[in-house]
Amino acid sequence: MRLLRRGKVKDIYELDDGKNILFHFSDRISAFDIKMSTPIPRKGEVLCKFGEFWFNSLGTRHHMIKVVDKDKMLVEKLNMIPVECVVRGYFYGSLVERYRSGIDLDLPKEFSPVLATKLPKPVFDPTTKSEEHDRPTKAQELTSSKVLSKEEYEYLEETSISLYNRMAKVANGAGFIMADVKFEFGRNSAGEIVLGDSLGPDEYRLWLASDYVPGRVQESYDKQLLRDWLIKTGFKDRIDTFALEGRKPDAPVIPIELVNKLSQRYIAAYERITGSRL
Ligand SMILES: Nc1ncnc2c1ncn2[C@@H]1O[C@H](COP(=O)(O)OP(=O)(O)O)[C@@H](O)[C@H]1O
Ligand SMILES: [Mg+2]
Repeated sequence: MRLLRRGKVKDIYELDDGKNILFHFSDRISAFDIKMSTPIPRKGEVLCKFGEFWFNSLGTRHHMIKVVDKDKMLVEKLNMIPVECVVRGYFYGSLVERYRSGIDLDLPKEFSPVLATKLPKPVFDPTTKSEEHDRPTKAQELTSSKVLSKEEYEYLEETSISLYNRMAKVANGAGFIMADVKFEFGRNSAGEIVLGDSLGPDEYRLWLASDYVPGRVQESYDKQLLRDWLIKTGFKDRIDTFALEGRKPDAPVIPIELVNKLSQRYIAAYERITGSRL
């Protein structure tokens, strides 16, 4: 087994047969694009089990073979399609800036751009994958650059939207709004396009339905407390100051009470959405 990469959250190993990949979901957490130096107990376990839950319940072709440990998942090695298939159900995140800068987002004319409002229908908003930042992309660009055929693009669009709809419905039944989600697909050894990567709170934005008020910032259920703390302590300002010089500050140590609360939130989201105990 050899380490392929250490992601922000997962460590990824290739097995010796060259056919399978092992995901080790760590307890690492990041916010505002900064990797924190304090781990969140059981976060890796939640991410792994969440992935297992969705792969088993969505009824779509996927790469998961099995969960082999509480925080480890064995998957089929895929030839990844370098596109992050983002689906947005709400007017939020980078969509807002892009809408304001006048980019055509294929929204109906009568759409009123209130922050966090529900979109008339979910929008497929793919971005090309890059190491630092993901760049929005258009169907035309992807199909003409031969990354995908037109049929494949349409398949990804249709599949992503239908997966989002199903996930959003499950989340809704548990009192959450799933504002958006990111999928990654790849080709398996038979050349079929299958759902890959992971599906968990790092791939989607969850809002508590009972706290939802359109027209203002909605905090993510799992990371809200960390983001609030980073702002309150002035660390967010430091990040912004460093960013002006193209640098990143060293991560702060998260106080233990906050670590415990964050851990509890990951577990609560898992237990409420899946209906099973961790
Ligand atoms: N089945 C698979 N085969 C090969 N690569 C995969 C597979 N599933 C996901 N990947 C790739 O693994 C990487 C996961 O890394 P990344 O998302 O950066 O990790 P993290 O979410 O921890 O930051 C991505 O580049 C993704 O495309
Ligand atoms: Mg990732």
